[in-house]
Amino acid sequence: MNQSNTPPKNIVLIGFMGSGKSTVGRELHHRLGYPLVDMDYVIEQRAGKPITAIFAEEGEEKFREMETMLLEELNDPAAPRRIISTGGGVIGREENRALLRHLGYVVWLHAPTAVILDRTAKNRERPLLHTDDPAARVEALLAVRKPLYAETAHLKVDTAGLDCGELATGILESARYFFTGHL
Ligand code: S3P
Repeated sequence: MNQSNTPPKNIVLIGFMGSGKSTVGRELHHRLGYPLVDMDYVIEQRAGKPITAIFAEEGEEKFREMETMLLEELNDPAAPRRIISTGGGVIGREENRALLRHLGYVVWLHAPTAVILDRTAKNRERPLLHTDDPAARVEALLAVRKPLYAETAHLKVDTAGLDCGELATGILESARYFFTGHL
């Protein structure tokens, strides 16, 4: 990990599957011009296969290792400012939570459970929800993860009723305060 006193520089989006991290990440990227790192996408490119195949062929633990390795790489003090969009389970490991906070301003996008269920039902790309009762799985995962998102985030954003432009505006305003205090 980067243990130097370099100020944190990135905007990091965390939150449950279907909370809007990728969409809001793209909007922040367009507004600020900072490169966008979508961690799921980078991992898929490196593995040469979709996340569902990584889970099926190598197991979840292997995927979690790839996430941690990528977070370590991203903690490069020489790198430019970036928007980093994470996978919903990245907060599971304690070392990841520390790495995330070290990377910059961590924003938790929080969506109502009904919205999460509706969005995640629309595709089959999320192996953790390939069960007979995805709603129960979502509830169980949320129960474990909510305190971890809360512990990791500098800012919690309730996304209900807001479009991605409004979310980006709010995030940028608070990020400005955060970075002013750290620069
Ligand atoms: C996961 C969320 C997914 C992806 C993987 C595991 C999780 O990312 O990283 O399927 O554990 O919640 P999204 O949050 O972008 O769907």
